[in-house]
Amino acid sequence: MILMNDFKAEPAELRAAMSTAAARVFASGWYVLGTELKAFEQRWAQACGTRHCLGVGNGMDAIELALRALDIGPGAEVVTTPMTAFATVLAILRAGATPVLADIEPDSGLLSPASVRRCLTPRTRAVVLVHLYGQMRDMQAWGDLCRTAGIDLIEDCAQAHLARWDDQVAGSIGSAGAYSFYPTKNLGAIGDGGALVTQSQALAERVGRLRNYGQSERYVHPELGMNSRLDELQAALLSERMKWLDGFTARRRVIAGRYDQGIRNPRVRLLAPPRQPLSHVHHLYVLLCDDRAALAQHLADQGVQTLIHYPVPVHRQAPCAGLARDPLGLPAAESHAAGCLSLPCHPQMTDADIETVVDAVNAFGTGV
Ligand SMILES: Cc1ncc(COP(=O)(O)O)c(C=O)c1O
Repeated sequence: MILMNDFKAEPAELRAAMSTAAARVFASGWYVLGTELKAFEQRWAQACGTRHCLGVGNGMDAIELALRALDIGPGAEVVTTPMTAFATVLAILRAGATPVLADIEPDSGLLSPASVRRCLTPRTRAVVLVHLYGQMRDMQAWGDLCRTAGIDLIEDCAQAHLARWDDQVAGSIGSAGAYSFYPTKNLGAIGDGGALVTQSQALAERVGRLRNYGQSERYVHPELGMNSRLDELQAALLSERMKWLDGFTARRRVIAGRYDQGIRNPRVRLLAPPRQPLSHVHHLYVLLCDDRAALAQHLADQGVQTLIHYPVPVHRQAPCAGLARDPLGLPAAESHAAGCLSLPCHPQMTDADIETVVDAVNAFGTGV
């Protein structure tokens, strides 16, 4: 079976380096908020081109912490997309703010600026922009839209590790960027992990307190925070895995390029190609098909695993059914959710695997 992810096939050299890093942490006797975290935070900030990085418990917490540190809570509206991991919207709700759902662009699944404009009200305080599937697009325009509206731009970079728009890296453009290091992400930990990156010293200092119970100095708590810290073991492992990220991303680009060129089936529609050479890191390769269930079954029969990102848009989830949304509705998100299918696109795939997937998609509906 060609899997969506295949961690056991990762290079032996990487696995050996991770074992050495883990042994170093065991030997250190220091497991939370130590030198491994500091070192990783410095490396990740440098890679993102931001002045600060704070390692936190997971990507969802990074979004909540960004909102809380910006004082975006009860009474504030935050516009985002229904075509995302549930965590994006849950983070807004957990911050006490009110999510407002805007529609997407059909050719990419990314948030639609026109729809976001229709969702703005005097209570809007931020847009959470999800770089869905690894794609960045029109960042200048998003910056302008938020500046003009006097609101914060928060980048949800959970799927877009080190994607670039012009010469800026995901997370470095908005007031804050939220990264997830969930194992399946382009940079994944061996468990949960996340980071918030920002250019703002004030924001970084506040998040540094909020992730640690709101503590300003030992046993002094000027405000109520969370317990959300990237631990030393995950930080050490991430520092090793980070050395492989550029190579792994390059391989994802090769696979996606081969799919873009090779998939020729009138029953299948591809998303628009990346607008810039480095603007897409291909966390997921997603195509659209009106007969998705049959395509997924056909691919499974040919030994190709698939997943759906996402079959149920956020506004169709029970706790979110009443959320405010674009007055014109969310038809593009509905249609995308009904037809999207993710193909395997991970760095351990062989050239033969890629050809198998292309041939299997092209054979769909031909009776082969
Ligand atoms: C777009 C998006 N946002 C947020 C998250 C939440 O990240 P985490 O699972 O680390 O909390 C994820 C991951 O599932 C994601 O894909």
